[in-house]
Amino acid sequence: KILILDFGSQVTQLIGRRVREAHVYCEIHPNDVSDEFIKSFAPKGIILSGSHASTYEDHQLRAPQAVWDAGVPVLGICYGMQTMAVQLGGEVSWSDHREFGYAEVRAHGHTKLLQDIQDFGTPEGHGMLKVWMSHGDKVTALPPGFKLMASTPSCPIAGMANEDKGYYAVQFHPEVTHTLQGAALLTRFVRDIAGCKGDWIMGDYIQEAVAKIREQVGDEEVILGLSGGVDSSVAAALIHRAIGDQLTCVFVDHGLLRLNEGAMVMEMFAGRLHAKVVHVQAAEQFLGHLKGVTDPEQKRKIIGREFVEVFKAEAAKLKASGQGHKGATFLAQGTIYPDVVESGGTASKKATIKSHHNVGGLPEKLGLKLLEPLRELFKDEVRELGVALGLPHEMVYRHPFPGPGLGVRILGEVRADFASLLQRADHIFIEELRATIDPATGKSWYDLTSQAFTVFLPVKSVGVMGDGRTYDYVVALRAVQTSDFMTADWAELPYSLLKKVSSRIINEVRGINRVTYDVSSKPPATIEWE
Ligand code: XMP
Repeated sequence: KILILDFGSQVTQLIGRRVREAHVYCEIHPNDVSDEFIKSFAPKGIILSGSHASTYEDHQLRAPQAVWDAGVPVLGICYGMQTMAVQLGGEVSWSDHREFGYAEVRAHGHTKLLQDIQDFGTPEGHGMLKVWMSHGDKVTALPPGFKLMASTPSCPIAGMANEDKGYYAVQFHPEVTHTLQGAALLTRFVRDIAGCKGDWIMGDYIQEAVAKIREQVGDEEVILGLSGGVDSSVAAALIHRAIGDQLTCVFVDHGLLRLNEGAMVMEMFAGRLHAKVVHVQAAEQFLGHLKGVTDPEQKRKIIGREFVEVFKAEAAKLKASGQGHKGATFLAQGTIYPDVVESGGTASKKATIKSHHNVGGLPEKLGLKLLEPLRELFKDEVRELGVALGLPHEMVYRHPFPGPGLGVRILGEVRADFASLLQRADHIFIEELRATIDPATGKSWYDLTSQAFTVFLPVKSVGVMGDGRTYDYVVALRAVQTSDFMTADWAELPYSLLKKVSSRIINEVRGINRVTYDVSSKPPATIEWE
């Protein structure tokens, strides 16, 4: 296994991800772990991460002495290279001015790390790598025993190696995808240099995560807010695997879920996994508070606030009912790595950690400890884990669904009758997206879009049906393609698909007589309508 020491870089988790992709087990720990910890961890290789260190003081961060005493290969990345240089007798010039950008790095001499890894060769026969790197701070003198491994015009020592000891360092970031050969380089380090086998799979992650959860929870009890979304579902399945009935899931149905969502969640978790699930039917309460409210922000606030209220009440009820001997002391959340926004501080002083799953500061209000077993994983890894845990592919690869649910897809006032119309129309749209296969790719249009849903417009228009005139509501179909949800293109769905969806909705959902397709990209529009 590989030990990654985190000096506080925003992209340290990506190192972990690349190592896992090389099928090698790794753990990320703060840079200031004790020497004893490193000894007992017994890594086959150690990676020193970058840092967003920007003041002179932060440049005092160092790797523990045990790293150099462990007798295993070490890879320093960016700041990790600089601290390696300083600690082993080289020199670094620090500068406040940093640039992060594209560079072409020339490989010098032969090292096991870079051998045969290049993006292109120069006429003189040098191997060149296209990378992302930080300029500014740089190593200005090699430590004794090191040789030059890579350079750029502005950073003459962009890589160094002491191959006798298995020490390698690069000024650029191999963990980001902009460094085209980065994954190859990290794989080379963990497999060929550190000698890890590369037989680790996501299934193994389950064993390790289960052991960690058992250790953390002991004989205490955990509650988890199940939303039906991917992250909370996978977290629930994983925690249930670890501690069984010490976990109680609370599924709050605010009446603004997708059609049959409640039944599906109960069938999966209570029915198939035999987990303890409390199904809270709170539609009336939510809709009551939303009555007459039309402002989107206010609607969101009310839904968030009521969610906290319902959850608190359920937690208290569980405690009073004596279902568990002492009541829950942990709140589990499906926080995944991209939700973890870290601001300020270095690895050792990780100050503010915010997560949007942490609705309304629930853990503090409930006085509960947090259990977040997916914190180190990226979305696609969470999905892979979900499949490995036996959740259905269809559930794990669902499009994202916002916490306020249909509350932000019914424009203006939220009403039960509107929600019912919308649920049925949306169900038809999703059904047809799943059923329509694109011949060019062999994939369904559901899988070819990142998010697709229906929006209810509370305006009426005139139609004609049979012999009669209708005067009914309008829906808009929305389907987008995006990789990060920050920008998105509307999806060019086939006309035949739109035609079928429109005709089915108008024929099957009495109360809707007009279907439109949203052809706005983000920006300037957003994905949701509210
Ligand atoms: P927008 O509409 O801002 O949406 O382009 C970007 C992504 O975020 C989702 N979204 C939310 N998710 N709570 C959530 O959990 C919310 O309040 C919320 N608002 C938007 C949206 O569905 C899309 O995937």
